[in-house]
Amino acid sequence: MQAEVLVISDTAERCEAFAVAAGRHFECAAHAPGDEIADVGGVFAIVADVSLDVPASVTFLRILKAKCMAGTQLLVVMRAEDRRSRIQAQSIGGTVFLRVDVDPSAVAGRLLQLAAARPDRLDGRLRAAVLGAQGACAALTNIFEAAHADRAIDARMVEAGTQLVMDAIEQGGIANWLEAVRAYDDRIYQHSLMVGGLAAAFSTTLGFAAGDRLRFVRATLVHDVGKAKIPVSILKKPGRLEPHEASIVRSHPKLGREMLESSGVTEPAMLEIALHHHELLDGSGYPDGLKGDQIGDFVRLATVCDIYAALVCPRPPRAAFSVPEALEIIEADAAAGKLEPAIVRMFGRTFAAEPTSEAPRVGP
Ligand SMILES: [Fe+2]
Ligand SMILES: [Fe+2]
Repeated sequence: MQAEVLVISDTAERCEAFAVAAGRHFECAAHAPGDEIADVGGVFAIVADVSLDVPASVTFLRILKAKCMAGTQLLVVMRAEDRRSRIQAQSIGGTVFLRVDVDPSAVAGRLLQLAAARPDRLDGRLRAAVLGAQGACAALTNIFEAAHADRAIDARMVEAGTQLVMDAIEQGGIANWLEAVRAYDDRIYQHSLMVGGLAAAFSTTLGFAAGDRLRFVRATLVHDVGKAKIPVSILKKPGRLEPHEASIVRSHPKLGREMLESSGVTEPAMLEIALHHHELLDGSGYPDGLKGDQIGDFVRLATVCDIYAALVCPRPPRAAFSVPEALEIIEADAAAGKLEPAIVRMFGRTFAAEPTSEAPRVGP
């Protein structure tokens, strides 16, 4: 098969990681700078992970890009964040710039977004997921920016985002949605999209009526809106938080509920899920340490989606858990009395109906 994506890296381990991730969706060939690459006729994107301080590598990339068809995208993994590096990357024809610590699955996600611009490039179900995620992320950006700036959250944006998520899940399925959403570098948007998508798929498994499904997805999409007020330096901090930082993060449920109320939201599911999605059945959650029956049904369902979504994303220094690993962890939480076992069992069935990932396709 002709390669669609070329991964060029001067580090064998990273080359392999990027190629495996990209190979989940595209015919992918991995090379070191200087390799002979004969056939580039089908290539629509090059992922370059090389030091641009090495003149031979820069020349190699320039020639390679020139050999590819017009419009071929060059994704450059930036070894440094300074202006000089950006100019270097642009001078070789870079079109997408990625941080040096970018997760390989986020690279695959960016490739999916680029491919979705061309209807013939992607399988229709995957394309529906990628385009839906793009639209829903735009709505979320509007919602979170308003929340951050103390402006009212626009109900039309919430509706638009909710509809996009529900349509994409219906047309593309949850596995494609999770793949598409992995493209987003911004942890909050990525997480919110995941929780919203999981809620849409889960509510189908549960056989929700249309109105309940809409209420549930809408509420889960904005469940973490309170995080718009938490400093980014804390939200993005890798590893363990200091106690005072943790208590700031733990203020987000109350902040979220307040923001929704001050924006005129009266829908009980939205307000309850924003305030209580970190409560656990054994009383060990926050902010109110609610127990058992004090936690409503919608909230219990949202909490499972929320925990699962956090597990399947990387949280440096830990990597993302796989779908089966994440399911095992929430099953253990259920066994420990934190989550409702029947809900966790049903949640697992959401994934049973469709494959969670394709086998990697990586060429030499
Ligand atoms: Fe939260
Ligand atoms: Fe969350």
